[in-house]
Amino acid sequence: MGRLDGKTVLVIGGGADGPAREGETVAIGNGRATAIQCAREGASVMVADLKLALAEETAAAIRAEGGRAAAIACDASREDDCRAAVEAAVRNFGALHLLVNNVGIGIGGNLLKTSTEAFDKMYAVNLRSHFLTMRYAAPEIAAAGGGAIVNVSSMAALRSNSLIPYEATKAAILGLSRSAAMTLARDKIRVNTILPGLINSTMVRREIGDREAAVAPRIPMRRQGTPWEIAKAIVFLLSDDASYITATELIVDGGLSAR
Ligand SMILES: NC(=O)c1ccc[n+]([C@@H]2O[C@H](COP(=O)([O-])OP(=O)(O)OC[C@H]3O[C@@H](n4cnc5c(N)ncnc54)[C@H](O)[C@@H]3O)[C@@H](O)[C@H]2O)c1
Repeated sequence: MGRLDGKTVLVIGGGADGPAREGETVAIGNGRATAIQCAREGASVMVADLKLALAEETAAAIRAEGGRAAAIACDASREDDCRAAVEAAVRNFGALHLLVNNVGIGIGGNLLKTSTEAFDKMYAVNLRSHFLTMRYAAPEIAAAGGGAIVNVSSMAALRSNSLIPYEATKAAILGLSRSAAMTLARDKIRVNTILPGLINSTMVRREIGDREAAVAPRIPMRRQGTPWEIAKAIVFLLSDDASYITATELIVDGGLSAR
């Protein structure tokens, strides 16, 4: 029996946009690992991604393991696309219970090196998208009898790395989630935030490359985390194992932030 049996989950940013690690048949990032892990726990998965081919790749990987999944193109910075992704989940699987907002990009630089356009794009992709998908998903989750939402923030919400629009949007996700949790508690919808530390994800492999040797000595556990470790923490927060947990933040960072 899976912890998400009978549930439908919508994963926004459920593809993986970056190179595979050695040994991976399909590239694994936080979003794709989360979608696959949800399916392994019994959920039907609606995979939404800016790039339809990447969403389809995730859905195919889930179906290859015997799970249920469908894919949809969705630019989460566009309101119509957010609404359409929620509608597609309900249309394909009959109801929506769970939402994971994994979308997040890292453009811009420090205060003096970030254009207004870059800041606005980060706001739309990293923050407003979470607001929009939650707003459209919440009535559906309530109609299904309740469920859970997990928003993906970052350690950058707590510590500076001089990427101002990333830090600002990831910090704002904490407030967004807390506020949504207050509103949605009466509908039996829990809302929590996950803060990954340094993870060997597709995002990092695409934008930075192999940073393991450079960052491992700084991390108390002496290694980067894997997308699967993020996915399993997200599944915990989605599942009934976290039935009394809402409006909180779970740091998954191998001890980095305690240092
Ligand atoms: N890797 C790390 O060290 C780390 C640390 C902290 C937080 N995170 C967070 O993890 C998340 C991304 O991780 P990932 O490994 O899945 O990366 P990823 O870059 O592979 O992103 C997942 C998917 O999001 C999609 N996407 C991008 N823009 C989109 C948009 N506008 N609408 C819909 N989909 C879009 C991409 O096409 C991709 O398939 C981000 O929120 C990031 O901030 C990562």
